[in-house]
Amino acid sequence: MTAAQDEGAFKALTKKISGARGFSCEAYKDKCLRRRIAVRMRARGVHTYEDYGRLLDQDAHEYDLLLDALTINVTKFYRNAETWDALARTYLPALWQAAGGRVRAWSAGCASGEEPYTVAVVLAEAARAAAGGEGDPQPLAGARVDATDVDRASLEKTRAAAWPASAFTEMPAPLVRRYFSEASSPLRRAVPELQRLVRVLKHDLVRDAPPDPPYHLIVCRNVVIYFDRPTQERLFARFTDALRPGGLLVLGKVETLLGTARARLELLDPRERIYRRPE
Ligand SMILES: C[S@@+](CC[C@H](N)C(=O)[O-])C[C@H]1O[C@@H](n2cnc3c(N)ncnc32)[C@H](O)[C@@H]1O
Repeated sequence: MTAAQDEGAFKALTKKISGARGFSCEAYKDKCLRRRIAVRMRARGVHTYEDYGRLLDQDAHEYDLLLDALTINVTKFYRNAETWDALARTYLPALWQAAGGRVRAWSAGCASGEEPYTVAVVLAEAARAAAGGEGDPQPLAGARVDATDVDRASLEKTRAAAWPASAFTEMPAPLVRRYFSEASSPLRRAVPELQRLVRVLKHDLVRDAPPDPPYHLIVCRNVVIYFDRPTQERLFARFTDALRPGGLLVLGKVETLLGTARARLELLDPRERIYRRPE
């Protein structure tokens, strides 16, 4: 097969996937799509894009498996602990104070919930510190974390709010003990005070407007890396619009702000990729 034929077959397949399941293949980097589709083709013993397209026509369940492979859902509590430490120690106390405790946060591309619940923990800790740093988790009136993803299975896990011990290996042990009970062993479940903070919503970053702006804090990590450059630029501009003046945007450790948002946000912490919308 020539390169042009291969490109044509690949484009026909991604068009089919976008049409059938509303998954916006066009926004993703080709290299990333090709790698993930190849995983499914190998699993089914299929060698060409045409044959894989025919397989999708015959076996609707293969679409589910493919979408699972395309939306890479690897995550952890306190992933890149230094970022969360910097946020909790250096930036969040002022944000918490300015918002009078009514911090609105958005975890965009939240996978199975470890990230929005990490945000909930750092907010709950800010509340505890503001109350003198003692005692049990406090009810947090007015604070909220919107947890969104395009992948339904991930959202179900976020709603269940219970995770295996392996999800917590990067989180400081005292925080795990304070905010996650062992009641439903072998899973640890978020305490009710934390669950009340988190609102789970289906949301496609490529197609949908931000769910409920303005936000004090937007965390979008290890998601935009899969999108092509124009999509990344559009998203960063949207995030900037969705932030309150003084609000923070946190990206993944290997992600960099692109496009017009670069001039509108100040880079607060280059190492942790934390940006701020000026007052
Ligand atoms: C690698 S995980 C990152 C999870 C978490 N943010 C973290 O850093 O640990 C990427 C997530 O982005 C989600 N995702 C991919 N495309 C998306 C889109 N168009 N809209 C919303 N979420 C998307 C995937 O479903 C997946 O859960």
